[in-house]
Amino acid sequence: MSAALAYAPPADTNAALYSRVSRVIPPLEWPAFADDVAAINRLKRQRNAVILAHNYMTPEIFHCVADITGDSLALAREAQNVEANIIVMAGVHFMAETAKMLNPAKTVLIPDLEAGCSLASSITAADVRRLRQRYPGRPVITYVNTSAAVKAESDICCTSGNARKIVESLGVPEVIMIPDKYLAANVARETGVKIISWDGACEVHERFTARQIRSLRADNPGLVVLAHPECPPDVVDEADFAGSTAAMNDYVTTRQPGRVVLITECSMADNVAILHPKVDFVRPCNLCPHMKRIGLGNIRAALENLQHEVIIDPAIATKAREAVERMLAI
Ligand code: 13P
Ligand code: SF4
Repeated sequence: MSAALAYAPPADTNAALYSRVSRVIPPLEWPAFADDVAAINRLKRQRNAVILAHNYMTPEIFHCVADITGDSLALAREAQNVEANIIVMAGVHFMAETAKMLNPAKTVLIPDLEAGCSLASSITAADVRRLRQRYPGRPVITYVNTSAAVKAESDICCTSGNARKIVESLGVPEVIMIPDKYLAANVARETGVKIISWDGACEVHERFTARQIRSLRADNPGLVVLAHPECPPDVVDEADFAGSTAAMNDYVTTRQPGRVVLITECSMADNVAILHPKVDFVRPCNLCPHMKRIGLGNIRAALENLQHEVIIDPAIATKAREAVERMLAI
């Protein structure tokens, strides 16, 4: 979600917080969340902490305890500006690492160290060094969904929100873009730049199929289809628009389609639907098991016990930060 939608929940009552999510969380379920929500908001003040939450967090996290919400790009940008002592990343490990490298003086906590990503785990730093040897002279553009060690081997990073711009900014006919083969294929088509990629994929987005999109259209007249560029190219071809999670949110906000489907992780539609009551959301559901490791319980434990601190080897952090900062400068 764009940084414009970021907000800090005031120190208000649970009833006021519940009203933010009452469209997607039934009243009977709220008591299961209420105690953790109140405790987390209290602990944030006591600890001088902020919670950064990705658009794929569930609504009770996204709307009731998060201070800053967004896509990977927005979270990276906002992490730089955090003044509080502690950043809790309600997202996956690479996001916490990115926050730490961009704001190294802060304590960065991830509620579950196992919150990974199929893209990040698909490639190592040694793989990048081998690619460079095999294709000398090509700049290496690395998707932020990677470890700090992989970023450190790269010339520049990108996110789904700026991949095209980053490729075009380099002004060369051929680049190495890792590790998402589908994002690379989608950007190659948009830019005409030859892209050498890697055999990585997002386990959530690669499950969508072109046939599924056609069937959703047949079942839902007037449906507007927004797809994430981590989807295979034939799925993107079936969509009306492809963009990052923030771009999808902006599309819904500005165009207010009558009926829409977001071809991405499930919680995204819940979070956006809350803000747009007049839009009818069709909801096929693909969950990210890594994002779903983060819940109110382990966010509360993170703040209570100051766990799990994200530490990056300083030599790796310096090189990785340079690749991320080159991206942020564009
Ligand atoms: P964005 O929010 O940057 O579009 O990324 C989607 C994603 O899959 C993050 O893990
Ligand atoms: Fe990784 Fe895909 Fe999950 Fe994002 S949604 S964290 S890209 S597996």
